[in-house]
Amino acid sequence: MPERPSEVCGRNARVALGDCLDLLRAEDDASVDLVYLDPPFNTGKPQRGTAGEFADRFASMDAYLDFLGRRLTECHRVLRPTGSILVHCDWRSSHRVRCLLDDLFGPEMFVNHLVWSYGLGGSSPRSFAKKHDDILFYAKTEDYHFDVPRVPATSQRMRGMMKKATDVLDIPSLNNLALERVGYPTQKPLALLSMLVRACSPEGGTVLDPFCGSGTTLVAAVEAGRSAIGFDISDRAVETTRGRLLAQPSSLAVAG
Ligand SMILES: C[S@@+](CC[C@H](N)C(=O)[O-])C[C@H]1O[C@@H](n2cnc3c(N)ncnc32)[C@H](O)[C@@H]1O
Repeated sequence: MPERPSEVCGRNARVALGDCLDLLRAEDDASVDLVYLDPPFNTGKPQRGTAGEFADRFASMDAYLDFLGRRLTECHRVLRPTGSILVHCDWRSSHRVRCLLDDLFGPEMFVNHLVWSYGLGGSSPRSFAKKHDDILFYAKTEDYHFDVPRVPATSQRMRGMMKKATDVLDIPSLNNLALERVGYPTQKPLALLSMLVRACSPEGGTVLDPFCGSGTTLVAAVEAGRSAIGFDISDRAVETTRGRLLAQPSSLAVAG
C-alpha cells in the first residue's frame, strides 16, 4: 500500500492514509479531546459505494475484537484527562466491545450507551426490524467535558421549545437524494456527528477519527470550531475526506 504523508486540509484539519494502529502510535499522549470511531462492523460482506469500498470480514469475532482492542488501547493513550471516546458499533458486537472498553477505561468510566435510531432499513419476518446502531461513550477520567445537547421537544405541552437530548438519538440516515451524500459506503449523517462533537468536545478542542471514511467527523468538527484529525487505510476515503474538507468555507490552503 503506497504511504502518503499526512496532509493538512484547510486551517484546522489533517488526514493521513494508512493503518490507524501505526498512525495512532505516532500521535502524542494526552493530545486529543474526543475520539469517535466507526470501524468496520464485521458484517462479513464488502461495503460498496460509488466513491469507494472497504472489506468488512474478519476470521472470527475474537479476531475482530483483537483488531479493535489494539486500536482502542492507542485511542485511550492519546486522550486528554478531560477527553472521551465514542465507539460506533451494532448488535453484532456492542456487548463484546463494551467489555473491551470496561477493561481499558474501567467500568466506572462508562457514560452512555447511545442508540442511534436511524429509521431506514429492511424488515424481517423472524425478528423485530433492526433499526438502530450503538454508540458506546466512555470518559478518560471523571473530569470529562460534556455539554448536554438540546433537541426540539415533541410533547404538546412543550411545543416549539427545546429539551435536553436523551440517549436515543432520532436522526434519519442519509437517503439516496441527500445533498451531503458523497457515495462512500456507510457514510454517517453530519447531523449525528455534529451533535456528538458539540456535546463531547470543547470549542477549540481536537477531535480524532481513526476510521474516517468519507470524513464526516472531520467536517462536523471543523464546522463546530474544533481541529480535526482523520486516518483511513483506503486512498478513496482519504481523497473523499480531503475533497469535503477543502469544500468547507473555512478552508484556506493545502500543504502536504
Ligand atoms: C464504517 S467506515 C467509516 C465511515 C465514516 N464514518 C463516514 O461517515 O464516512 C469504516 C472505515 O474504516 C476504514 N478502515 C478499515 N480498516 C482500517 C484500518 N486498519 N485503519 C484505518 N482505517 C481502516 C475503511 O477503509 C472505512 O473507510
